[in-house]
Amino acid sequence: DVYSSKKDLLSWCRLRGPTCAVIAYKCPHIKVTIVDLNEIRIAAWNSNNLPIYEPGLDEIVFACRGRNLFFTTEVEQAVIEADLIFVSVNTPTKKVGMGAGYAADLAYVESATRQIAEVARSSKIVVEKSTVPCRTAESMRTILEANSRDDIRFDILSNPEFLAEGTAINDLLHPDRVLIGGLQTPEGRRAQEALVEIYAQWVPTDKIITTNLWSSELSKLAANALLAQRISSINALSAICEATGADIDEVAYACGRDSRIGPKFLKASVGFGGSCFQKDILNLVYLSEQLNLPEVAAYWKQVVDLNEYQKKRFVSCIIKTLFNTITNKRIAVLGFAFKKDTGDTRESAAITLCKDFIQENAQVRIYDPKVTDEQIFLDLSEPGVLDNTKSLKKRVTIARSAYEASENADAIVIATEWDEFKVLDYEKIYEKMHKPAFIFDGRLIIDAERLRSIGFRVHTIGKASI
Ligand code: UDX
Repeated sequence: DVYSSKKDLLSWCRLRGPTCAVIAYKCPHIKVTIVDLNEIRIAAWNSNNLPIYEPGLDEIVFACRGRNLFFTTEVEQAVIEADLIFVSVNTPTKKVGMGAGYAADLAYVESATRQIAEVARSSKIVVEKSTVPCRTAESMRTILEANSRDDIRFDILSNPEFLAEGTAINDLLHPDRVLIGGLQTPEGRRAQEALVEIYAQWVPTDKIITTNLWSSELSKLAANALLAQRISSINALSAICEATGADIDEVAYACGRDSRIGPKFLKASVGFGGSCFQKDILNLVYLSEQLNLPEVAAYWKQVVDLNEYQKKRFVSCIIKTLFNTITNKRIAVLGFAFKKDTGDTRESAAITLCKDFIQENAQVRIYDPKVTDEQIFLDLSEPGVLDNTKSLKKRVTIARSAYEASENADAIVIATEWDEFKVLDYEKIYEKMHKPAFIFDGRLIIDAERLRSIGFRVHTIGKASI
């Protein structure tokens, strides 16, 4: 890793830190240096308290650090020494300018590439690892070639990352596939081979796919778009289920038993979140528009639109059920992370839900086992609004447990599928809630029948309410 902006360290750390650590772990003969401009972050990587949590990450870092894995802010020196460089910088969605809201901001990719070109004194293989729209490698190649000298050549590869948060180490150790794109020239193929050799230290060669550069770049966007599309498809069906009495879990199971469809990624929910899905689809939408393919753009855009609709639909159901008003009603929100087993809240559905509850003047009490209070307030505050946090704190409080959150509440809303929410003592919770006590399950994790027998009024996404 060669470069990172301070602002976007989180995503850099989450997805890329583990990748390099696993390479060092599996290839003791290779020296891996992870560089970053942020001293605090590098100090954390060099401490006993790593800047991110991923099961299994500590063991791997502690086993290799100081042996063949190093963390440093000395970008230049690391670039000079390296034969192969992963460019793992963030590519956030542009907030302003051309393509705002859709296109990826490639400023970090470009500055990292320029920096490599400037300081390199020997030939390098440069690997594009950030999620970038198609043909970014071409821009990187142009910059590197324009800056190269006779005795130095740069070969570009694309090697997208498919790992998911919370399972990063396992995904890296046992990947479904590794994808390496390169130019189909003799030099390009040689560079591709060099990277294949690294992964082949622990990944069976039939799982290492080599393609041309553009296929590799597009495959990353395509894989995320296809995954998100499955969730939007099942969520669209969940609306039909609620209106007709079909049960979305049963429908998903029956469809998933078709081996052509498969059972995974068909869990209905209040909406997908995370740093990748929405961003990558919007990138695909922008790319399609740029290519003058408006129908294709509209097709993929619908996956994101449906996701927004699903969140709004859930909020409407809650308000309607609570007698058409939630003003000053107490709502306990269980879970704030975008999925279980992570403290990451980027694009979390819980943010949209809570903002809507606040807009309706409800009293919101949030509990999440991993997300910090600061993060919650940061996510819920509106940028630029003076004293926002102060007024926010009148509407939002943070609880230390699901029990504390639901005390005196009118309704419980499950926004993240944390395992602990499945095994709560719901009798105890029911006793301390206002009656009638409502529970809205946005993750389909509770046993609705059992809760109804306690006295709860239960609403589950994708199931008819009784
Ligand atoms: C995703 C991709 O899975 C990974 O391959 C890529 O490299 C990065 O983006 P991640 O964002 O970590 O990984 O989370 P993932 O487990 O894919 O879940 C994304 C969102 O979809 C979560 O909000 C999750 O709760 C939701 N989801 C997932 C569902 O609502 N239903 C499902 O069936 C699966």
